[in-house]
Amino acid sequence: MTGSRDDSIMTTMTEIAEIIAQHEHRVGGPLSALRAVVEAYGYVDDKAQSAVASLFNISGAEVRGIVSFYEDLKTSPPAARTIRIWQASGCRELTQSLEARLGIQLGEKMPDNSLALEAVHCLGHCASGPVAMIGEEIWTDINDADIENLLTGENNEPPSQPGPLPNQTRLIFNRCGIADPLDLTTYKKEGGFKTGSLSADGIIEEIRTSGLRGRGGAGFPAHIKWQTVADQNADQSAYQKYIVCNADEGDSGTFADRMIMEGDPFLLIEGMCLAAGAVGASKGFIYLRSEYPHARDVLTEAITLAREDGLLGETFDIELFIGAGAYICGEETSLLESLEGKRGLIRAKPPLPAVEGLFGKPTLVHNVITFCSVPWIVRHGGAAYREYGVGDSSGTMPFQLSGNVKQGGLIEIPFGMPLGEFIDAFSGGTRSGRPIKAVQIGGPLGAYLSPAQFDTPLTYEAMAEIGAGIGHGGIVVFDETVDLAEQAQYSFQFCEIESCGKCTPCRIGSVRGKELVSDIRANGCTEEKLSLLKDLCDVMEKASLCQMGGMTPIPVESALKHFPQDFGLEP
Ligand SMILES: Cc1cc2nc3c(=O)[nH]c(=O)nc-3n(C[C@H](O)[C@H](O)[C@H](O)COP(=O)(O)O)c2cc1C
Ligand code: SF4
Repeated sequence: MTGSRDDSIMTTMTEIAEIIAQHEHRVGGPLSALRAVVEAYGYVDDKAQSAVASLFNISGAEVRGIVSFYEDLKTSPPAARTIRIWQASGCRELTQSLEARLGIQLGEKMPDNSLALEAVHCLGHCASGPVAMIGEEIWTDINDADIENLLTGENNEPPSQPGPLPNQTRLIFNRCGIADPLDLTTYKKEGGFKTGSLSADGIIEEIRTSGLRGRGGAGFPAHIKWQTVADQNADQSAYQKYIVCNADEGDSGTFADRMIMEGDPFLLIEGMCLAAGAVGASKGFIYLRSEYPHARDVLTEAITLAREDGLLGETFDIELFIGAGAYICGEETSLLESLEGKRGLIRAKPPLPAVEGLFGKPTLVHNVITFCSVPWIVRHGGAAYREYGVGDSSGTMPFQLSGNVKQGGLIEIPFGMPLGEFIDAFSGGTRSGRPIKAVQIGGPLGAYLSPAQFDTPLTYEAMAEIGAGIGHGGIVVFDETVDLAEQAQYSFQFCEIESCGKCTPCRIGSVRGKELVSDIRANGCTEEKLSLLKDLCDVMEKASLCQMGGMTPIPVESALKHFPQDFGLEP
């Protein structure tokens, strides 16, 4: 974010009108117009909000609703510099040091408005923590000696890009970190964008044979979505259909989407082009989180190069849409609302996005890694892909290892390796040297597993059997100092902060859950409190409209089940 914070600028309505007018006919108009004002001035005041309301012919209340939903849409002048600190347990000391040094708490500004400290749940560099972001600069591996530089903004080392860890099977990430990401000529020479003779139906058939499942979290079979979108109004070739790439990657402990978008953007573009051809879509969007400015720049350049080369533009084109700082917009229906320029409120399903998605049209929504898996499958055949992995967990998965490990990073391997073997093979042990106490798998809504479960294979089926999930492939390791009751409280708190607020079990349940676990931690656990906690989890799981509220009980209940001593209960 750039621009002067001079209040008088906000009264320059002609200038603001010019900025927002550029978004009048763009997808997500009101949201992208508000975003553009914030990019120019640092914030969007009442007058600018009124201008957006009148340009888009919507009520002031609606605009206020959009502004209040998104973290990035500030309504008052920001501090000259804002340090955004990643909120993981490994960053607690960094937060405390900065708070003590500056005499302000997280979420506050210095009295002279020179500096602010802000919390951020994910910056996509979990394997290089502690991490912070200033403006668009990412600071990684921050230690005590770096704090002075962090405050002055000097001597930031760019994020390290270590080479790939050995012993992987890189089908998707084979060029990542090795090839020049923007060298389209070489990408094509190596086989990229050679569609071969496969028809649209033939491509869907290869996807079906491959057994590819969505990598965004739920692991839903990809070919079913493709076939559903393809079947909608199949007799009308001009019928509008969309492809949407979910690049919101908000799960703590995950960074695979960021890495592939920064390291091999043409792979994503090719995957989306193949999908568009197969389902009959003419327009695609990449919904990218705002915390990934480098990915934004690389993708912008790659899309331009692909257009200049004629790969995009004629029958299918892609537009990059930048989110505005809301975790829930990773959920596909919330994302679609956001892409339409609204608050990211969850939509009830059905109708499924494949039938009625963006602007009510059939829409194929996939995660970045799902689309990036497609070119390999189309080039080598679905059967070849299926040779990797186990059973219905076919192919490879880019697992992302972080937390208390000597060595974190992205590890692409076929599904099936037992969790403990994976950690032994790639982590180098804990960074602290202490024994491992727990592993959280599948992001902030994923289960906490104890070492007794480490023989579980990394497959969708085996994880489901123990009440866990692969999610987007994040694996976060904790040593014996972790307090699982505190983590459970954090899970409720995360849900409280990120809930879209549409349904009661999630909006209110998360707050009550946080209070209850806090009470248990402070005053001990009784039968009554335990039963209330279980009841609350049950209601959230069964009655929430989406998996945000529906899955929050998973980390809580797994912590309670495997680490009862942390709640003051008998093991
Ligand atoms: C709370 C919540 C957050 C989510 N965040 C993401 C995300 O950041 N990225 C993503 O690809 N999918 C995310 N999902 C899953 C999407 O709703 C959707 O299933 C996915 O984009 C479909 O793509 P896939 O078929 O490739 O998995 C999230 C789901 C929930 C419930
Ligand atoms: S579960 Fe939470 S995030 Fe999902 S619709 Fe309900 S309030 Fe919104």
